[in-house]
Amino acid sequence: MKAIVLSGGKGTRLKPMTHTTAKQLLPVANKPILFYVLDQIVESGIEDIGIIISPETGEEIRKAVENGPGWKAKITYIVQASPAGLAHAVKTAQGFLGDSQFLMFLGDNLIQDGVKKFVAEFQSKSPDALVLLKEVEDARLFGVAELDESGKILRLVEKPKEPKSNLALVGAYLFKPDIHKAIGRIKPSGRGELEITDAIQEMLNMGRRVDSHILQGWWLDTGKKDDMLEANRVVLDDLLKRSIAGAIDKDSHIEGRVAISEGTVIESSTVRGPVIIAGDCRIVNSFVGPYTSIDAGTVIENSSIHHSIILGNCRIRDMENLIDSIMGRNTSVSKCKAISRSTKLFVGDDSSLEL
Ligand code: TTP
Repeated sequence: MKAIVLSGGKGTRLKPMTHTTAKQLLPVANKPILFYVLDQIVESGIEDIGIIISPETGEEIRKAVENGPGWKAKITYIVQASPAGLAHAVKTAQGFLGDSQFLMFLGDNLIQDGVKKFVAEFQSKSPDALVLLKEVEDARLFGVAELDESGKILRLVEKPKEPKSNLALVGAYLFKPDIHKAIGRIKPSGRGELEITDAIQEMLNMGRRVDSHILQGWWLDTGKKDDMLEANRVVLDDLLKRSIAGAIDKDSHIEGRVAISEGTVIESSTVRGPVIIAGDCRIVNSFVGPYTSIDAGTVIENSSIHHSIILGNCRIRDMENLIDSIMGRNTSVSKCKAISRSTKLFVGDDSSLEL
């Protein structure tokens, strides 16, 4: 059994972060989303993994994976020339996949408890495809499945205007090689992409057996800013354990589940978990509140911050109540001390500020 991880795409909805970073490498609890995906694939017993990359961000992904913690798997990189859809990515990987059955995992999705159980179910029950579904509030944003009373899939529609159910297709799918035949029969959708939803519908049209499984645990699709913050919140809540390795002075308070790495200094500050702070940071005279992840080399002075993701080497000074924020690497923010109520900005393309 093989796996492919889709790590190409445009990442339009996560600009400006995706100007300089592949979205699959954006960190949740200080760990790239793609690394959770690779962990979960290896945990399911699959050792032959193809990562679909784009010409623009592929090298960065390759480097990050090669310098990562190491996985017990053979990893092949497959360049998709343009982001022409999820089914197009499968088509691009056809040479790698051959006649293997395979797991397809979107590189920006996180699934609670992983996919081990579903891979085992697919192998034991041997349907032609197995899809995971999750109840969502607004199904118009997703590929949607319509089931009959017995739970059998009747129809699949990509981003329907009037969804017939609230069951969205989750970003992990299992296929037998017949999916390639189905992809060969579909045409690009209205948005010009070869949709995997249409390909699975085509499998149904071909009389193939498509099983489904409704997920009870969380599923996080990190395509937008608020999704990233929500993923950070859920993962810190669920997975973080207390471990304090930095230097904490006697005027500081570390409360609850907080992880602080070696080399970080905390002075006259309160850190209230769940919070993760990587190494070589300095937190001085500040409050770091729940659901915050701070990556290596960041300095925070005279500020309060919570429910935020701060990437490496940032500077935050004199900021009161910085919330729901994501800051990219090497960025700095500080309160303007001018007498008039002024705001001074030096902001890159596609940024968004709420003042
Ligand atoms: P999406 O989030 O659906 O697409 P996108 O990355 O183009 O994002 P946006 O809509 O913000 O522009 O993609 C889901 C995952 O699949 C993501 O990890 C990127 C990957 N992908 C590919 O590898 N190839 C593709 O052709 C597409 C569309 C996505």
